[in-house]
Amino acid sequence: MAIEVDGALGRLTVRRPNALNALNAAVLEQLLDGVERLVTNPDVRVLQVSGEGERAFIAGADISEFVGARPADALVIAARIKRVLDALARCPKPVVAVINGFCLGGGFELALACDIRIASTKAQFGLPEIKLGILPGGGGTVRLTKMAGSSVARMLTMTGDPISAARAFELGLVASVHEPEQLPGAARALAEKLAALPPFALGQLKSSLNIAVDADTESACHAEVKAFALCYATQDKEEGARAFLEKRKPVFTGR
Ligand code: COA
Repeated sequence: MAIEVDGALGRLTVRRPNALNALNAAVLEQLLDGVERLVTNPDVRVLQVSGEGERAFIAGADISEFVGARPADALVIAARIKRVLDALARCPKPVVAVINGFCLGGGFELALACDIRIASTKAQFGLPEIKLGILPGGGGTVRLTKMAGSSVARMLTMTGDPISAARAFELGLVASVHEPEQLPGAARALAEKLAALPPFALGQLKSSLNIAVDADTESACHAEVKAFALCYATQDKEEGARAFLEKRKPVFTGR
């Protein structure tokens, strides 16, 4: 695992290229630690998750940890993954998954817990757990159903077959697809765009979007309007409105 702070960008890179960046217990601990460090670093406005090397984003949970494991062990494995995914999904900063290759199983579940996914043309997406005699245990059936609908979720989880980046784009699972050599530049441009936005409002926006996925319309709209009103307590709201009226670029401080 590598954790880097590059200006306002906090980068988490899973580094197990020999195992196609599969998530074992140690990597999941490091990922959780990394997310917590970047979330609490006030300089970091955007998180990015990617996988080291040319071939994989993350090829799933580490299958070698499944051998001999019983249901009680499975709960521990799932809980380790859930802690990381919840930390990414619930943190008040935007999280971008930059997907260069295999994005499978727990790797796909992790990507689904991020706010935005961008991919290389070489990326492949799948939830192949059924082929191992199990099923996704990191929220994959749930997040995929909510993001792409029940029909897509059933097709992907029941066949276990991967889909291309182009198909993932058609299904709305990734925001954009790039030639492999252009992916880092696209990731940087997106991070810079997000980092220039008002961080408090972005955090409130993310919270509202999260609630919108799960709550009924009335409760979600109620949560949204509270978040909207809270932004009126910020200097960044004043800056945004004044900069517009003064025809200049706003500078947001997070205050
Ligand atoms: N867990 C543990 N090790 C993994 C892994 C995983 N999820 N995915 C890949 N690896 C390891 C392989 O065992 C292999 O190790 P080795 O070189 O020591 O033998 C190495 O990564 C390279 O993988 P390999 O299978 O040789 O590459 P490939 O190009 O032939 O196939 C995949 C690539 C992704 C299709 C294949 O590795 C695969 O199916 N991986 C498992 C995906 C999966 O089921 N994920 C969900 C787990 S719940």
